Amino acid sequence: MVRIAAFSLISVVVIVVAMLGWRGKTSTDPPFQPFMDMFAQPRYEPQGASRFFVDGRSQQPPPVNTVAWGRNPQQADAEFVARDEDLFALQQLPLPLDRALILRGQQKYDLFCTVCHGGTGAGNGITTQYGMNAPPSYHTDRLRALTDGGIFQVISKGKGQMGPYGDRIARQDRWAIVAYVRALQRSHVASAEDVPDHLKNMQPAE
Ligand code: HEC
Repeated sequence: MVRIAAFSLISVVVIVVAMLGWRGKTSTDPPFQPFMDMFAQPRYEPQGASRFFVDGRSQQPPPVNTVAWGRNPQQADAEFVARDEDLFALQQLPLPLDRALILRGQQKYDLFCTVCHGGTGAGNGITTQYGMNAPPSYHTDRLRALTDGGIFQVISKGKGQMGPYGDRIARQDRWAIVAYVRALQRSHVASAEDVPDHLKNMQPAE
């Protein structure tokens, strides 16, 4: 009996000390990891010191006369550096709209956007089956009311869980995607009046 009581008491003390004993103590030791894998490895803190480089900085400026890949500010397109409000105010594409542009947009849309937004833009891409939040359908009044520049802005700079594509999709292709998103939206609200006159009397193929 006494043994059980003593054992319980010791257990309680051990548990309480384990839970509360080190509260509020900060430590610079790495946390205990039974399986390290690649979780913890040597690294530098941002802006930290380094004994490896002669100037003692861990973050090195790019060597003189070089430009980091894909980061040339001179090449950044005007829209990308434009203010968001200015882009949203842009009602229409700044390029000629033709069939080739829409087809190019379709190709790029299928590559970059279908996974999340679905092939028709209904917001039912494959990622939604893997726990990602469903993106909004393009076929709502709110998204139909977005300007062309607004869609371009979202593609270029991202929104919420959607990452930016400005550095991965060429400017021209981002506008092509905008044209295709418009075509998708249009396809859901079209009426017989939208059929061009010269196609109105076409008979369905037998
Ligand atoms: C990884 C998944 C993912 C990909 C890929 C993706 N999107 Fe999105 N998109 C989202 C999500 C999630 C939202 C909702 C963002 C929010 O409102 O927080 C969204 C929102 C949008 C919106 C609506 C913005 C608004 O005002 O509500 C548009 C337009 C859009 N995406 C276009 C595109 C286009 C075009 C592509 C391809 C270049 C693309 N997205 C690629 C996930 C994605």
